[in-house]
Amino acid sequence: MKEIKNICCIGAGYVGGPTMAIIALKNPGIKVNIVDINEKRIADWNDTDLDKLPIYEPGLKEVVAETRGRNLFFSTDVDQGIQDADMIFISVNTPTKTYGKGKGQAADLKYIELCARQIARVAKRDKIVVEKSTLPVRTAEALKDILSNSESGFNFEILSNPEFLAEGTAIDDLLDPDRVLIGGDDTPTGKEAKNTLSAVYEAWVPKDRVLQTNVWSSELSKLTANAFLAQRISSINAMSALCEETEADVDEIAKAIGMDSRIGPKFLKSSVGFGGSCFQKDVLNLVYIAKSYGLTEVAEYWNQVIELNDYQKRRFADNIIKKSYNTVNDKKIAFLGWAFKKDTNDTRESAAIYVADHLLDENAHIVVYDPKVPAEQVYTDLEYLKNHDPEEIRKRVSIVNDPYEATNEAHGIAVLTEWDEFKSYDWAKIYSSVLKPANVFDGRNILNKKALEEVGFNVYNIGK
Ligand code: UDX
Ligand code: UDX
Ligand code: ADP
Repeated sequence: MKEIKNICCIGAGYVGGPTMAIIALKNPGIKVNIVDINEKRIADWNDTDLDKLPIYEPGLKEVVAETRGRNLFFSTDVDQGIQDADMIFISVNTPTKTYGKGKGQAADLKYIELCARQIARVAKRDKIVVEKSTLPVRTAEALKDILSNSESGFNFEILSNPEFLAEGTAIDDLLDPDRVLIGGDDTPTGKEAKNTLSAVYEAWVPKDRVLQTNVWSSELSKLTANAFLAQRISSINAMSALCEETEADVDEIAKAIGMDSRIGPKFLKSSVGFGGSCFQKDVLNLVYIAKSYGLTEVAEYWNQVIELNDYQKRRFADNIIKKSYNTVNDKKIAFLGWAFKKDTNDTRESAAIYVADHLLDENAHIVVYDPKVPAEQVYTDLEYLKNHDPEEIRKRVSIVNDPYEATNEAHGIAVLTEWDEFKSYDWAKIYSSVLKPANVFDGRNILNKKALEEVGFNVYNIGK
């Protein structure tokens, strides 16, 4: 087994940043270089003010404080990072394609391919190359092709090591993972590479939680895990619609079914819809892959998970309109939360974006308060959909730093993210400043419905 002294990670994002920080923390003998072409991002990672790190994750700044400058480094010099490394993690973005074949479903692998070509060009010795980004099945083959056709003549072992961390709990997930999955070839050099990477994790993860598989199983396991998790949310959200028509309560149902050990209690929280950079992208990717093998029924089965999620977001927006006497034209709707879940500043695919977009179709004014999301991000998210002009968006949407200002004189309040602080607001004070009837649409079922009703609010939940 090779001893690793130097690791390079290409991509200083939500996955690469925290993962490498923990690898560096637990392996003080390994020098870890994170490289990225985005100069601003690297400058932010190097900022002496740890509150300026480009990613907000509970516990992250403490880990960076301990490791940065010791054995964790951030740089824009990608070539140097590649040259120095024994092992290279590729952790660049793999968004859904927005053009050409597979548009809207397939993963866009152009960033991965660029990395592979760059490695082939600048490497001066053998390397282990690890796919960290979520990738469609058989991407390793493309990587291998590019690397083995390079003129260098060096040996590149390709491993798949998907990341299962969830944002907001990244540090805990990394410190205590349910499992670490490492896929690679079953050749002698492939096995050696798998053992070498296993040793990096075994610095803190119990050996029996480090699984080795073939490369295809590893790639497909990641897509399958995300598809199953997303499917649970769509399943409970489907039930929420039925609960609202009957007198059943979706939280009571979730508790009752979750006690069945075959089902389990996690990931059964009904909501305004799932967001995040992974679920939709990975399920669509699975749909695309199934279709490309002619497996129409399989593709349709998984596509329904996305359709139901779109329905849930639309249903929430439609309910706001319906309860506002069927019009939100020029009415002020306060949004509490914009991030796709609590404890992160990430807004990718957040349900809030789609709910806001739908309300903008109806000429609403939206005032957003989120404890971690900057104003420009809200505008970027809405502009990206291209359904409304940037001027119109800036006219109709404002972002404030104070929840009481957001809710002042609002015709309705919508909770889009489950930030804990929303629960402890002075709701009596908020009631006195909103327009009546005072409607709260709790898209996360986090507020104390009874207490708010006693204050005078009408509270509309999901699945109740
Ligand atoms: C089921 C429920 O488990 C039980 O809680 C309910 O009260 C009645 O319905 P049952 O139909 O008796 O019970 O058997 P179960 O073990 O759930 O199996 C149902 C079918 O699913 C069988 O054909 C079984 O072979 C199949 N199955 C089960 C699988 O194909 N894969 C599995 O992982 C589990
Ligand atoms: C997910 C997977 O959990 C993680 O393993 C994978 O590596 C990346 O994708 P992430 O997207 O960061 O992680 O967060 P997650 O906690 O899974 O939440 C995703 C979305 O589902 C959020 O919008 C969240 O609010 C929503 N959700 C989650 C629910 O609506 N209900 C639930 O019960 C759980
Ligand atoms: P993830 O959630 O998968 O970590 P992010 O978008 O947060 O995704 O991070 C991916 C990072 O990869 C970005 O900071 C981007 O600048 C970087 N990146 C993309 N392509 C390259 C490349 N060819 N070389 C170096 N960095 C890259």
